[in-house]
Amino acid sequence: MKIGIIGGSGLYALDELEVTQRQAVDTPWGKPSDQLVCGSLNGCEVTFIARHGEAHHIPPHRVNYRANLAALQAMSVDAVLAVNVVGGINGEMCPGDLVIPDQVIDYTWNREHTYSDGAGSALQHVDFTEPYDKPLRETLLKAAIASGLPVHGEGVHGVTQGPRLETAAEIRRMANDGCDIVGMTGMPEAALARELGLPYACLALVVNMAAGLAAEPISMEKIEAMMALRMPVVRRLLASACSD
Ligand code: HPA
Repeated sequence: MKIGIIGGSGLYALDELEVTQRQAVDTPWGKPSDQLVCGSLNGCEVTFIARHGEAHHIPPHRVNYRANLAALQAMSVDAVLAVNVVGGINGEMCPGDLVIPDQVIDYTWNREHTYSDGAGSALQHVDFTEPYDKPLRETLLKAAIASGLPVHGEGVHGVTQGPRLETAAEIRRMANDGCDIVGMTGMPEAALARELGLPYACLALVVNMAAGLAAEPISMEKIEAMMALRMPVVRRLLASACSD
């Protein structure tokens, strides 16, 4: 089994990956965010891509999600694990916690969100009732529990357009909609993986409470400190999930 890993903010490389090849790939949908980094992680064949580029220069609405997934598929991955940092909406999902969402609500707009895009591509209406792959979620959950970090095995992932953070009213609306966490990059990625037939699951790291839910304003310094604190554990967790 060959696993594709998409690293989000704070995860631009997998230090534990024994790299065998770095490959620049072109796809019918354009260029992916960066080179694909292939190698062995804990004995498992892995291909890694940094969603925002290794220099973190691509904002959420400009990521070429179609090219990233198509490139992973071209490298013959069998499944995709995606890492996203998010804000907590559910009061139980606090900074430092991990969430393995089971549902998603898409609030993004104007992103290239499908491969069924005319010009010779077949029109597919994929079933997206369960947006994330259950066996992959279970694998992530097992590794997350073993990591010792607080983990929530389900949750609704609301995905906003960004790059700005939300207003307090937007977060109240999302809470009313049933969202537990909020991020900017979970969609259209999950739906594109489904269109390609690639099993896909998300590991979300909560790095702040969402807008209006904490006494102080959201601080980028605190978000970065939380990413720096938790990402080494997330990397080890991914390594153990891959070899499961
Ligand atoms: N909102 C949207 N995306 C995010 C947040 C947030 O509060 N925190 C990290 N990614």
